[in-house]
Amino acid sequence: MAQIINGKAVSATVREELKAECERLQKEYGIRPGLAVIIVGDDPASKVYVNNKEKGCAEVGYYSEVYRLPAETTEEELLCLVEKLNNDDKIHGILCQLPLPKHLDETKVILAIDPKKDVDAFHPENVGKIMIGNYSFLPCTPAGVMKLIESTGTDITGKECVVIGRSNIVGKPQAMLLLQKNGTVTICHSRTKDLKEVTRRADILVVAIGKPDFVTGDMVKDGAVVIDVGMNRKADGKLTGDVDFASVEPKASFITPVPGGVGPMTITMLLQNTMTAAKNTLK
Ligand code: GUN
Repeated sequence: MAQIINGKAVSATVREELKAECERLQKEYGIRPGLAVIIVGDDPASKVYVNNKEKGCAEVGYYSEVYRLPAETTEEELLCLVEKLNNDDKIHGILCQLPLPKHLDETKVILAIDPKKDVDAFHPENVGKIMIGNYSFLPCTPAGVMKLIESTGTDITGKECVVIGRSNIVGKPQAMLLLQKNGTVTICHSRTKDLKEVTRRADILVVAIGKPDFVTGDMVKDGAVVIDVGMNRKADGKLTGDVDFASVEPKASFITPVPGGVGPMTITMLLQNTMTAAKNTLK
């Protein structure tokens, strides 16, 4: 029987700390962390994420602006907005919700965001800093995963850590963060041979492959810490992760549920990065 890792509770604790820190920053330095979020078009999932980001800012006392732009927005208009926000002192963090409509080049937009305001940590400068372990911002989802592992009291040093998925947003940076904590890290992906043989070695298994209920009990070592980054929408509208909870939970020592595991942490880590960006302006 695994202990369930409560992402909502861990998230609430971090948000309380951020709220107190936000008050202190305003009192002592007269600055209020500010986040600008840009959404182009009307992808329903993106709209929900952006609304939650706006609510998250309000909850911890940050200033926020949300730009809801029509799907026909041109690249020039979008880059012009990013430039305006780069030069706006009230704004410490800029996030452009992905995916963008097809006619817009995501790479160009990411490159246009001032790395000091890149609270997603998607700009190559910030990606490079993560590689060398000298960073201001951690990418939100992997950072949330690290907090959840930390909340279990697990010491990562020397542990076999297996990450399934090699995306730029989750898998690759996740592997780097586990490596920095002295884990022995393996990244698996769709071409990995004998995946089960690899995952069964994992003391810590992070799954970010985007396939519903992909990891089953026979792929997991007894006592493993299992973190499910998946968010898949089933035909009945319910959310399910990348881990088959029913067969994995009896074998794991700790496991995240979906929903209520990694999901709540992601926006909290965005708020954490926005706080860091605001504080960095004081240096
Ligand atoms: N779309 C889905 N997840 C994310 C994220 O973490 N950041 C941005 N900018 N877009 C996303």
